[in-house]
Amino acid sequence: MRLKCFVLLLFFLVLLLCTKFDGCEARNQRHRKSKLSPSAMARKKGRHTSVGSSKGDRDDHGDGRDNQLNPPPSSQPPYPGTEHQVPNPAAMFSVLDYGANGDGVADDTKAFEAAWAAACKVEGSVLIVPAEFEFLVGPISFSGPSCGPNIVFQLDGTILAPADSRSWGSGLLWWIEFTKLQGITIRGSGVIEGRGSIWWTSTESNVHPSDDELSLKLVEIKPTALRFYGSYNVTITGITIQNSPQCHLKFDNCEAVQVFNMTINSPGTSLNTDGIHLQNSRDVMIHHTNMSCGDDCVSIQTGCTNINIHSVDCGPGHGISIGGLGRDNMKACVSNITVRDINVHNTTNGVRIKTWQGGSGSVQSVTFSNIRVSEVQTPIVIDQFYCDRSSCKNQTSAVALSGIAYENIRGTYTVKPVHFACSDASPCSDISITGIELQPLQEQYHMYEPFCWKAFGELYPPTVPPIVCLQSGKPASNRILSDHGMC
Ligand SMILES: *[C@@H]1O[C@H](CO)[C@@H](O)[C@H](O)[C@H]1NC(C)=O
Ligand SMILES: *[C@@H]1O[C@H](CO)[C@@H](O)[C@H](O)[C@H]1NC(C)=O
Ligand SMILES: *[C@@H]1O[C@H](CO)[C@@H](O)[C@H](O)[C@H]1NC(C)=O
Ligand SMILES: *[C@@H]1O[C@H](CO)[C@@H](O)[C@H](O)[C@H]1NC(C)=O
Ligand SMILES: *[C@@H]1O[C@H](CO)[C@@H](O)[C@H](O)[C@H]1NC(C)=O
Ligand SMILES: *[C@@H]1O[C@H](CO)[C@@H](O)[C@H](O)[C@H]1NC(C)=O
Repeated sequence: MRLKCFVLLLFFLVLLLCTKFDGCEARNQRHRKSKLSPSAMARKKGRHTSVGSSKGDRDDHGDGRDNQLNPPPSSQPPYPGTEHQVPNPAAMFSVLDYGANGDGVADDTKAFEAAWAAACKVEGSVLIVPAEFEFLVGPISFSGPSCGPNIVFQLDGTILAPADSRSWGSGLLWWIEFTKLQGITIRGSGVIEGRGSIWWTSTESNVHPSDDELSLKLVEIKPTALRFYGSYNVTITGITIQNSPQCHLKFDNCEAVQVFNMTINSPGTSLNTDGIHLQNSRDVMIHHTNMSCGDDCVSIQTGCTNINIHSVDCGPGHGISIGGLGRDNMKACVSNITVRDINVHNTTNGVRIKTWQGGSGSVQSVTFSNIRVSEVQTPIVIDQFYCDRSSCKNQTSAVALSGIAYENIRGTYTVKPVHFACSDASPCSDISITGIELQPLQEQYHMYEPFCWKAFGELYPPTVPPIVCLQSGKPASNRILSDHGMC
């Protein structure tokens, strides 16, 4: 009897304990729920859309911490002890949360800097530049090296360059710079608008320039729009870069670079506006990109190796170029360059290698294949006497060119089909020409025959027109490279 009573008591005790735990659990759940959406989500939404709201409203969200709180899927109840196992999405840092106005008028540079400072600390974070806003951003540097790896710059809005002279001081080499990062991606459908027209136009064509425009012209150094330096694993995709004061996109000292599905867009008359400029960089892939600009669509400079460019549309512009190399007696080294499946239209050159007299070093293993040209002044160019002044000093030494293959280059030209001007002391060797078919497009200009000077290699006929000027075999005086000429 006493035992029965004891068992009963025990049973009630257990029951009581159980309900107590349940209660705790229920409260716990309610508490968690209230911390998550929908209220938090609504608040977040409000913040993102209420751009005109007071600055103070956004200040307390400066660290972006609550973005990391992820509500579990609503159909699944949150199990105690498992919430920390639900993987957090990458941390998001919208520039709007850091005080950016996005009205295209107020200076948003500080907001971008603050958003970057926060995003930089988190591996795989996403800095968001939202669509339908225009952000006026002055010269800015998104700088490592202490940032977490694999940061994403999600650009869906527009970034506008300042158009007043004050922002540029006495002159800057670039406008937007990313440096010393391990894994950096710029993606989205946004636009980088350089508002460069004031840097291109000549004084005469500018009838009534404002004071600011006049003083801006006095700033002699024209900035590159977007520049990457010393970074590994860089991806640029989706975006448009347009109307840069000078070069649109530049990579220096970078490795493992991917550029694809993007657009570079400036008028053919814009002076010195290269599309993509590569220097001291390796393992670079550029594809599915449309470029129209006032200078080289792609320019490959010294220190570049393992560069692959394909499925690119270029024009107007100056075509795809290696060089100018060897300026001011410099040593230049370029090797393993592949350019294929390219469409070049309405440009001064198609595919070109240009070097200055007096340089040293070499260009080796270059393939240009499947190039379609239309209305191109000179589709195929090697110019070892490159000079951007009226005349340059004659010098014997030169960057040595060898192993240059031209395969399947077809279309129309307006001045000269082929121009090979190689160095006397260091002739071009191992040029191979296969499947050339270039038709003159009658214009008002005089047309020229193919030209060759000290160009050696193999011709695989038929070619249209016949390029009989290429000398077969190897150049007689095979120059022995001095140590300083070796790459
Ligand atoms: C390169 O970057 C991508 C995208 O940020 C990342 O997923 C990948 O892990 C990186 N690769 C290396 C080798 O760091
Ligand atoms: C290319 O980029 C645009 C944004 O500019 C995007 O909408 C489109 O989906 C991308 N295409 C591919 C194949 O990635
Ligand atoms: C480039 O232009 C072609 C032809 O106009 C178009 O089909 C393609 O989508 C464009 N590519 C990009 C990246 O915009
Ligand atoms: C070629 O480009 C020039 C500017 O460089 C432009 O004025 C002209 O209209 C273009 N011609 C064609 C046929 O696209
Ligand atoms: C040449 O570059 C390509 C990338 O474009 C690379 O896959 C290949 O391994 C390189 N070849 C040599 C010999 O380095
Ligand atoms: C350089 O050499 C070329 C060809 O020999 C000659 O026509 C030209 O006048 C020389 N230029 C100078 C600046 O000496």
